[in-house]
Amino acid sequence: MGVILIKETTSSICGENHLSSSIISSSSNATPIHLVSPSHLDALKLELGGRVSAWLETKNFTAKGRQCELICDADGKLERVIFGLGKDELERLPMLHASLAQQLPAGDYQLEGEILNAKLAAIAWGLGSYQFNRYKKMRDDLPKLVLPEGLDIAEIEREIKATALVRDLINTPTNDMGPEQLEAAFIGLAEAGGAVYNVIKGDDLLSKNFPMIHAVGRASADAPRLLELNWGDENHPKLTLVGKGVCFDTGGLNIKTGNFMTLMKKDMGGAAHVMGLAQMIMDAKMPVSLQVLVPAVENAISSNAFRPGDVLQSRKGISVEISNTDAEGRLVLGDALAYGDERNPDMMIDFATLTGAARVALGPDISPFFTNDETLVADVMAASMSEHDPIWQMPLWAPYHKYLKSKVADINHAGATGFAGAVTAALFLDKFVENANSYMHLDVYGWQPDNKPWCSIGGEAFGIRAVFAMLQHRYG
Ligand code: BES
Ligand code: MN
Ligand code: ZN
Repeated sequence: MGVILIKETTSSICGENHLSSSIISSSSNATPIHLVSPSHLDALKLELGGRVSAWLETKNFTAKGRQCELICDADGKLERVIFGLGKDELERLPMLHASLAQQLPAGDYQLEGEILNAKLAAIAWGLGSYQFNRYKKMRDDLPKLVLPEGLDIAEIEREIKATALVRDLINTPTNDMGPEQLEAAFIGLAEAGGAVYNVIKGDDLLSKNFPMIHAVGRASADAPRLLELNWGDENHPKLTLVGKGVCFDTGGLNIKTGNFMTLMKKDMGGAAHVMGLAQMIMDAKMPVSLQVLVPAVENAISSNAFRPGDVLQSRKGISVEISNTDAEGRLVLGDALAYGDERNPDMMIDFATLTGAARVALGPDISPFFTNDETLVADVMAASMSEHDPIWQMPLWAPYHKYLKSKVADINHAGATGFAGAVTAALFLDKFVENANSYMHLDVYGWQPDNKPWCSIGGEAFGIRAVFAMLQHRYG
C-alpha cells in the first residue's frame, strides 16, 4: 500500500499511489475477461471457436464460481481470460471478482460478457489488490482493471481507498500506531480533507472534563488524548462519528491471558473505521456538518493504572464502578459520546471493537449494530445488502439494564453475569447519548481471520460502505 501515516508526509493519506492504479479509466491493450455462468458456457464456446472451446474442455472448465482459465494465442501471449460465475447465490457474490486481481498476471484487463454488478466487481478488484507492504516487499506488478462503462471512477476509488485506510491503520502494529501516531494519522486525514482539528492530551483531559478517557489511558507512556475534527457547513445536518481508539488492549490489571492479547493492535479498529468513513464523506463533499471524535489511548499496565473496584466520574456526571479493567472501550467511548451529544447531532454513529461477545454471536463476517431509530434500521439494512457489506441489528434490550447495576455507583460498566455481553455494552454506551436524534453503535471485529478473495488475513473494514450508502441516501 505504501501508505503514508506519519505526520510529516500526510499530504496523501492512504495508498493513493498503489490503489488508484489498480483501477484505470482506459487502456489501449486491455485483455478481455469473459465472465460466464454455466448456463451461458456453450454459447461462449461457440462464439470463441474451436481452439478456445477445446482448451476449456481439456481443462474441464465448467464455469463454477471463481474458476479462471488463461487462453494464449498462437505466439504464447495471453489473449483472453475466462472467469466462471457459478450458478448459485453464494458462488455469484460480486465480491468474488476480487479473486481476479489476485490470480492474474500483470497487465490491463477489461470485463466482458455477463457483468452482473459492475460497480461491486470493480470495488472487489480494488479491495483484492490491497497489500500491507509497510514492512515487507510484496508484488509490485498487480493486474489493472479498466473501469467498466457507466461507472464513476471517483466513486469506486473512494470506497477502495477508505477500506485500504482502515486496513492500513489496523495492520500497523502498536509500536508504529500508538496514540501519538494515531493522532498524526488523524491530523493527516483532517488536513487532507480541509477539516479543522483539535487534540486534548494528557492532564488536559482532566481539566477539560474527560475523566474516563484519562483514567483508561494514563498508565501508558504514550499519553491518552481525544482527537476531534470538524468539517463542512455548520448549517447542514449534524453528523458525529465516534471511534474506539484503543491502540493496544492488554486488558489492564485484569490482564488478558493466553493468546487473547495477540491481536489487540486492532483495538483501535473503530477509530480506523470512522477515519475511513470520514475520508469518504469529505471526498464526496456530502452536505453534512461532520464531527469526528477518537479517544486514542493505550490500555496499559503500570502502578498508576485504573483498578477493579475504582469508581470513576464521567463527563456526563454518571459515576461508574469498574468491575473489569478489560472493559475499557466503553469508558473512553462514554466520555466521547457525551461530548458529541452536547452539540445535539442529527445523527451520531460509533464504531468499536467493543466485545468478544459480538464475535461469538455473529462471527467475523458480519457486525452487529444497535440503534433506537427504527427508520435507520430499514435504511442501513437495505444499504448493507446492496453494497454487500453485511451488518445485522441486535437489540438494545432495556430489561438488561439490570446487569449494569452497582451498589456503590450510578452504574457498573460491565455485566457480572456475561449474559448478552454485546447488548449490555451497547446499553452502557446508550446511557451517554441523550440529545442525538438518531444513534447507532456498531460492534466491529476489525479483522479478517480467513483468506478471502477481497481480503487476506489482517485488518478489515466492516459496515463503512453500507453506512456511507445509507448516509448518501439520507443527506447526499
Ligand atoms: N477489545 C476487547 C473486545 C474484543 C476482544 C474485540 C476480542 C474483539 C476481539 C474489549 O476491550 C474487551 O476486552 N472486552 C471484554 C469485556 C468484558 C471484560 C466485559 C470482552 O469482550 O471480553
Ligand atoms: Mn478490553
Ligand atoms: Zn478493548
